[in-house]
This record gives sequence, structure tokens and C-alpha cells, in this order.
Amino acid sequence: MKNFISTQDWSKAELQEILDYAKDLKKNKFQQTLKNKSVALLFFNPSMRTRTSFELGIQELGGYAIVLHPAKDAWPIEFKPNTLMDGESEEHIIEVAKVLSEYCDLIAVRAFPKFINLEEDLSDKVINSFAKYSTVPVINMETITHPCQELAHIMTMQEHFGDLSGKDYLLTWTYHPKPLNTAVANSSLMIASKFGMNVKLLCPNKEYLLHQNYLEQAQKNCDVNGTSFQITHNIEEGYRNAHIVYAKSWGSLNYYGNPEEEKLIRDDFKHFIVDEQKMSLTKDAKFSHCLPLRRNIKATDAVMDSDSCVAIQEAGNRLHVQKSLLTKLLKD
Ligand code: CP
Repeated sequence: MKNFISTQDWSKAELQEILDYAKDLKKNKFQQTLKNKSVALLFFNPSMRTRTSFELGIQELGGYAIVLHPAKDAWPIEFKPNTLMDGESEEHIIEVAKVLSEYCDLIAVRAFPKFINLEEDLSDKVINSFAKYSTVPVINMETITHPCQELAHIMTMQEHFGDLSGKDYLLTWTYHPKPLNTAVANSSLMIASKFGMNVKLLCPNKEYLLHQNYLEQAQKNCDVNGTSFQITHNIEEGYRNAHIVYAKSWGSLNYYGNPEEEKLIRDDFKHFIVDEQKMSLTKDAKFSHCLPLRRNIKATDAVMDSDSCVAIQEAGNRLHVQKSLLTKLLKD
């Protein structure tokens, strides 16, 4: 039984198989590959795209989706092993995962990092606990990475460029009034490097570097592919000659648990917004973002409304890649 928790657990060929079937599903959306199958979708955090695309995608394949929000419309869950449960949690992950496995053929989970304790967030406790105790496959709908977004991102880029090998890829940090989690940024580096692109990470300074775990994984992928991985804090150097610009905001890992303190330094970097002047440095690059996006904070209206922006196409492709992934996991 295989889970989909990180794309690093899957080979490029396996991921390409999912992408290829997603392209078929985009043309022929109604299939019966999930007929009589049920999927539990657990959201510990809000969602628009992920919930809609999973719930609808499961229906379009003939399956049933059960959406639960633990601690809201389902009981709060305890994740600590061998603990005295005298707090708020009403049941333990051991029972939750096993009972849901009795009812459903697959469990998908969204559980963002809490941004209080870095080590705890890096352990990705919630999704890994589901994987440990479930007897059915588990899909990551965004934790400390966002692998479903990665698939949609690569599908979109392949639709524009075909083979991505050797393309110049920029992941740029952007400003946002709050410190956001690093999931999509971590994912962007891993998938761009895995698919053979020369990857650049642009962020304001060393305080905004992503965690070493993800930088090392990106470097390893680039080493395997014979491509380059570069970190820069110079905006012009980052954008120059890029074929693809992907934007995301994230909070500094050096200020974990101290959002107020971090805001004092972050507010100096509002100029990292994606605008037409920066995009003009690229090789007529495609621009994308996972969404949601605050216009004129992360990217200007002009960029968002330009022909180069493919963020809506990427969001649309979430539906097709997830349907392909669900089909593969339930078939295998
Ligand atoms: N990109 C994405 O996952 O969107 P939602 O948070 O709306 O699901």
C-alpha cells in the first residue's frame, strides 16, 4: 500500500504516469474508476481549491467523499502516544485512523504547521500518524509540503513548455502581512528540481531561507539531473532569463513562534512583489502562484491579469491530477 505524502517518495516516472493520466482525464472527465469507493477528506485548516477539487473529483469518478473538520464537526484528536488524555481531545489518532479505515478506502488530510515549534512542525506529526495507523492509503492535502499542488504546477508547466528539462525556474519569496507556512515553497523547490530544471530561490536575506531539509533535497535532485540550484537575494539576478516564475510568501524560520517580531523585519521587503518590471527581465516567463493570493501585495493586477499568468490554469489542474492520483492509489 502506497501513500502520497511527499513527491520525494515517488520516482519521476511514477509522477509522470499520474500526470499523463491526468491529461486524459482533463479531456474525458467522467469515469468510474472510484465506483463504490469512499474517501475521507479531513481538514484541520480552511480550504477553497483543495476541498472543491477533491470532493468534486471523487464524485466525477463515481466515488463518495466524506468531509470532516476535526475539533469542529468531528471530535478533537489526540496525537501524543501513551498519554493521559485529560485535555480537550476526545479520541486518539489510533482509533480515528482505524475507524476511518473501516469505513473508507482512502484518507486525505490537510494539517498545516502551527508555526509555534519548528521541530514539531518538521516531524509532520498529523499526516504521519494517519499513515502509521491507517490501513488504507493516505494523501497529503497540504502539511509542511503540498504535493498535490506540485502535480498541478508541473502539469501546467508541461502544458506550456513540454519537456521541462533545462528550463530556468525561479521561486521568489513575496511579501504578505502575515507569516505564512513554507509548504508550497518547499514543494516548489522539490518538484522543479526533480523535473530537471535549473532552480533559483530568491528571498530577501538568509533569514528567509527555507529549511535545510528542503534545500538539501532540491540540491540532491539537481545533482541527479546535472542541473543547477542557486540561492540569491538579488532580485534582478533572480528574475533574469527565467522561463518560469513561481511566487510564494513564507515566514522566517528564525522567528518561529514570534510573528510580531518578524513583522518588523518583513515589512522592509514589500518591494519583492511580482510586477511587470521584474517580469520584463525574464525570457517571457510564465507566472504562477498556488492561490489564494492578495492582489497588489504579492503580485500586481497587471501581472495577474496578463497572458503570462497561469495560476487559474494551475488551480484547474488540481482537479485532474488529484483524480489521477486517487485512481492510481485505489487501483494499486
Ligand atoms: N492552493 C490551495 O491549496 O488552495 P486552498 O488553500 O484554497 O485549498
